[in-house]
Amino acid sequence: MRRNLPLILVLLALAGAAVAYYELKIRDVNPDVPFVVTPPGVVNRMLEVAGVTKDDVVYDLGCGDGRIVIAAAKKYGCKAFGFDINPDLVGEARANVEKAGVADLVTISRADIFDLDLREASVVTLFLSVPVNARLIPQLQQLRPGSRIVSFAFHMPGIKPRHYFEEDIDGRRQRIYLWVTPLEKE
Ligand SMILES: C[S@@+](CC[C@H](N)C(=O)[O-])C[C@H]1O[C@@H](n2cnc3c(N)ncnc32)[C@H](O)[C@@H]1O
Repeated sequence: MRRNLPLILVLLALAGAAVAYYELKIRDVNPDVPFVVTPPGVVNRMLEVAGVTKDDVVYDLGCGDGRIVIAAAKKYGCKAFGFDINPDLVGEARANVEKAGVADLVTISRADIFDLDLREASVVTLFLSVPVNARLIPQLQQLRPGSRIVSFAFHMPGIKPRHYFEEDIDGRRQRIYLWVTPLEKE
């Protein structure tokens, strides 16, 4: 037993490190909403209703696989930034950016969206949830006048949309909300 003591201590240390790493990963990833993709037709329509041009700076909060920022850069030639809390999705989005040939325009970062300063954005895209949209209001109020916020499926409680679109897109009824800053209370 005594002879095996160093080995036992090393094994215990390794087990402790594995548990700590696992707990850290769980806490780190912990998204406020799960990863679900926006259908391609809806991505195109969101960018269209937001009136994106090459001079815009598009932020996708919770960018998943990067499809919205990639589409914005490819179609409009604008700069676009995607943020996600999940490191696996950040890796996937970065690979997709490379594959799409838009690495000069698109930046993907790992971040908690509630820590972001949004003042550099002129267009913000969201596919999150109603409570998460509500929590983002103080940050969205910091956007410069004339900035556009476009949300797939979810409204922003207490804030009047400039337009609400309910349309058939690729054979399904879809909802898109558009706000223009300064935000107007309901
Ligand atoms: C419904 S998915 C939308 C993905 C992408 N925007 C799209 O439309 O295809 C929401 C994304 O938000 C990310 N997310 C959830 N909570 C987050 C947080 N607090 N900070 C950053 N990303 C978050 C999730 O990891 C997920 O990728």
